[in-house]
Amino acid sequence: LVPNAQTAGISSVIRKKLMGYVGFANLPNQVHRKSVRKGFQFTAMVVGESGLGKSTLINTLFNTTLYPQKEPLPPAAERPKTVAIESIGADIEENGVRLHLTVVDTPGFGDFVNNDDSWKPIVENIESRFDSYLEQENRVNRTKIVDNRVHACLYFIQPTGHSLKQLDIEFMRRLHTKVNLIPIIAKSDTLTDEEVTEFKERILADIAHHNIHIFQAPTYENEDEETIAEAEEIASKIPFAVVGSDKIVVTPDGREVRGRVYPWGVVEVDNEEHCDFVKLRQMLVRTYMEELREYTNDVLYENWRTEKLLSMGVAQDSSVFKEINPAARLQEERVLHEAKLAKMEAEMKMVFQQKVQEKEAKLKQSEEELYARHKEMKDALDKQRLDLEDKKRKIESGRPLTPEKSSTTRKKGFLRT
Ligand code: GTP
Repeated sequence: LVPNAQTAGISSVIRKKLMGYVGFANLPNQVHRKSVRKGFQFTAMVVGESGLGKSTLINTLFNTTLYPQKEPLPPAAERPKTVAIESIGADIEENGVRLHLTVVDTPGFGDFVNNDDSWKPIVENIESRFDSYLEQENRVNRTKIVDNRVHACLYFIQPTGHSLKQLDIEFMRRLHTKVNLIPIIAKSDTLTDEEVTEFKERILADIAHHNIHIFQAPTYENEDEETIAEAEEIASKIPFAVVGSDKIVVTPDGREVRGRVYPWGVVEVDNEEHCDFVKLRQMLVRTYMEELREYTNDVLYENWRTEKLLSMGVAQDSSVFKEINPAARLQEERVLHEAKLAKMEAEMKMVFQQKVQEKEAKLKQSEEELYARHKEMKDALDKQRLDLEDKKRKIESGRPLTPEKSSTTRKKGFLRT
């Protein structure tokens, strides 16, 4: 038992051995069943210049034609002059697990002569999705919250083989605190292996230099070696050099694969020796989709929410903590109550002292008055006594009384003998 556990607000933990099977070991299965029934939501954003293979890669990733065959682009003069935001939603199912997938496309990004503000509509879109989530959370009835927040942003880097462009850096700098960034070298089949390696090094150096945070596969304490090795291997491939193709082609040795055919051979999408597509899919879908959702909710959205509420003047006080911690709330109430009692006691003491002082002053005043009256009466009596003694002496000595005095004496009934 923890000493003073009750007062410290800590519940004591006693380890007990079970006598038989109780059943809570089945909790993970319950969670599994429930989440399968509810289905999952995932929103991915794709950003990159036109023609870098964004739609092809999304179709390749989810093995479906999410993006329909596109119309050829209109002439430059007829295209919109700003970055547009378009969403495509699809319900896909695999082995009974339903996923509502939304892909947010950003046509026009990086396609203008001046691309200085290309990131702005994208940041605004991501924030408006946070806004919508916050608004739903604050509703009276919030049982049906739709999560439209962007859980991952695939940023397509042009396969120049040089280093990041100013536009790439600016975009990542503006977005990395609001979304899980996953940088991708597009159309990596246009670069040789050495060029890819060097390009990756330069990109990572730029990212580190600008303190840009990109999503990393997390590892936790007590994780098994296999999981740690997998996370490390995925991390070693960032930025993913990918090749996209939703076409099935035949390799020279007769295999049917998803890939791109060249005069010198076939580039296979799902072959780890040809590109990092498999590792990207592992990161985005197979192993870390839930981590991406969780990081968006627990870190990115939470930080944005705190900032937003503070900027709206909602003070970050401890009320939230108190709400979830009854011991802290009780402690605070007790302190407040004690302070109130102490204040009341001090006030009562002050009033009592004041009353005593007033009473003392009154008593002193009446004492002085009494003393003055007593003195006055005593003086008058002394004077009267002296007068009478004087008269007595005169009478005894036979001297006549003064007329004035005799009238007084007469009045008082004294007669001459
Ligand atoms: P916008 O819709 O204009 O933004 O283009 P996008 O980025 O969606 O590109 P899209 O997927 O439409 O691909 C453009 C062209 O690039 C198509 O002809 C694709 O076949 C080709 N392409 C797509 N992925 C790759 C790739 O990995 N390597 C090569 N070499 N070509 C690719």
